[in-house]
Amino acid sequence: MGVRPQGRFEGRVTVITGAAGALGRACATSLAREGAKLVLFDRDAEGLSETAKSCPGSEIMTGDVRSAADVKSVADVARDRFGPVEMLVAAAGVAGPSKAAIDVEEDEFDLLFDVNVKGSWLAAKYIIPHMRELGHGSVVLFSSAAGLRGSPVLPVYSASKGAVTLLTKSLALNHATENIRVNCVCPGTIESPMVRMSIEEAGDTVAQAARESLQKSMHPMRRFGKPSEVVGAVLYLLSDEAAFTTGIALPIDGGRLA
Ligand SMILES: NC(=O)c1ccc[n+]([C@@H]2O[C@H](COP(=O)([O-])OP(=O)(O)OC[C@H]3O[C@@H](n4cnc5c(N)ncnc54)[C@H](O)[C@@H]3O)[C@@H](O)[C@H]2O)c1
Repeated sequence: MGVRPQGRFEGRVTVITGAAGALGRACATSLAREGAKLVLFDRDAEGLSETAKSCPGSEIMTGDVRSAADVKSVADVARDRFGPVEMLVAAAGVAGPSKAAIDVEEDEFDLLFDVNVKGSWLAAKYIIPHMRELGHGSVVLFSSAAGLRGSPVLPVYSASKGAVTLLTKSLALNHATENIRVNCVCPGTIESPMVRMSIEEAGDTVAQAARESLQKSMHPMRRFGKPSEVVGAVLYLLSDEAAFTTGIALPIDGGRLA
């Protein structure tokens, strides 16, 4: 048997929120392959067990990113099992609703801001102190192409992701001298169950095909992205190769924002 090559992230303790989702799972699988010690967090217990199958030795924890107690206990569990957390990937998020901002209900607004913005902030709040102890760390938050400019289709989602973009930049400035880097990725439309669902909402197959083609046409590359194309960017930002990169919001969008 050959010696297993050392991965870029060998032994690095990493928390991933939204680890049961399409992009969180794809990040988890690649980080596990490259040697990271993972704590996988999501509200979806079944999905987490599925993710854990491709991440041997990982710890899984079910909970809500909106709850300070839940997020604090992820940080505590990570420390107890593996030690202080060195890397954070905050992928938990919710999308929708597709209606004008003034037609969005208060509970829909609160859900988007609580999960997308407060959830990202809580993860940073409880995990960055571990990085301070270590004297280094790297955080990747999940914004969106819709977090870099307005969206007539998903206006409040866009506003929440805009907040994630500036949370990223503010955190990066707070911790720039502490060797803790904070960046975010801004995906365009990525092939995933979240996106399939929004296309299926269009109704019959003709309407679905029209919505899919309209969405693809918004990307100059005329296709949706693949989860692996987001993972490549997340792993780069986490890695030492990006040691002088902090506070960026990186579009991964087939040229949509060009
Ligand atoms: N898929 C895309 O096209 C796309 C584009 C731009 C940005 N994004 C962002 O990327 C991230 C991941 O998206 P995805 O496509 O993997 O979506 P997904 O729906 O597959 O995954 C999101 C995960 O977050 C979890 N989650 C939601 N609310 C939670 C809560 N309160 N507590 C704990 N977990 C919670 C869900 O259970 C799910 O597993 C999201 O932040 C999303 O907004 C996705």
